[in-house]
Amino acid sequence: MNANEAPVAVDTGQDNGLNRYPSLRPASLTRRMADYYGVSVDNVLATRGSSEGIDLLFRAFCSAGHDEVLLTPPAFEMYRIYATIQGAGIIDVPLQSDRNFSVDTDALLSACKEQTKLVFLCSPNNPVGPSVPSRQLLEIVEARAGKSVVVVDEAYIEFSDVDSLAPLVSSYDNLVVLRTLSKALALAGARCGAVIASAGLITLLDGVLAPYALSSPVIAAAEQALSSGRLLEAQGSISMTVAERERLRAELNACNSVEQIWPSQANFLFLRFSDLEKIRSVLTDANIVIRTFAGDPTLRNCARITVASPTDNDRLILAVRSAD
Ligand SMILES: Cc1ncc(COP(=O)(O)O)c(C=O)c1O
Repeated sequence: MNANEAPVAVDTGQDNGLNRYPSLRPASLTRRMADYYGVSVDNVLATRGSSEGIDLLFRAFCSAGHDEVLLTPPAFEMYRIYATIQGAGIIDVPLQSDRNFSVDTDALLSACKEQTKLVFLCSPNNPVGPSVPSRQLLEIVEARAGKSVVVVDEAYIEFSDVDSLAPLVSSYDNLVVLRTLSKALALAGARCGAVIASAGLITLLDGVLAPYALSSPVIAAAEQALSSGRLLEAQGSISMTVAERERLRAELNACNSVEQIWPSQANFLFLRFSDLEKIRSVLTDANIVIRTFAGDPTLRNCARITVASPTDNDRLILAVRSAD
């Protein structure tokens, strides 16, 4: 009788307990996440998608009109959106497009200033696909110790052949790793992700996160997704996605309209067509939508294509071939 809840749940045909508030913080989900990410429970904060983790970082570390974030475009657009909402300045150090979109460590470190409170690195990168070597990430983390929090966004790491930096958060107190259940664990609709960091940083971010952030159905779905049986199933779909990614690469490489396909460690391919408008028109006719980058002159004629089911991948290949 402490929370002014309704005494009886709405009748949905099952005892869903939705008349009760969820836990303030979901302890058993946090435990499952900690096991999955190879860290202790003190190093994990469950959030509404990793997008919420990005927002929390800006709110915790950037004073509006004063502090700045360093981004390495092209990158996930939410970094820029949340920076702007918070009134944080943005320093762009573009990836090296002539070097497979690798990070330029020297340029990045020399662009950092006293107000650079956050550095965002996406590995594997969305939208272009390569991962950043761990030793390069750690070089940046070490160089910015005591000055910036370095955020390594590992949304797509399950599709890659690199190891997560998550287990290293207890050794580097300016390292934050973002993970999500939206990609390899197939739970985008549930909105669930994790911030992984030193216990001190987690306590700080926990103070910024809304109480009762995750709803009971989301907590239940996420716990299930992290059960050993479901993780085994997920492993099967990850392997299929990786195999399909490489099949798509080979098939698209043979199409005349495809000029270049970059190496990808994620569940998508990034490529350049000779005539993107023509491809868009054949894909629209086939009811297929891909991601293009009209606003970015350096990515002219480029597109990101998500690896889908084998049947949908076949439909895409046929449509692209028809433009030859
Ligand atoms: C690199 C990257 N980080 C984070 C996210 C956000 O994922 P979510 O908020 O669904 O966990 C995405 C989504 O596309 C992404 O591409």
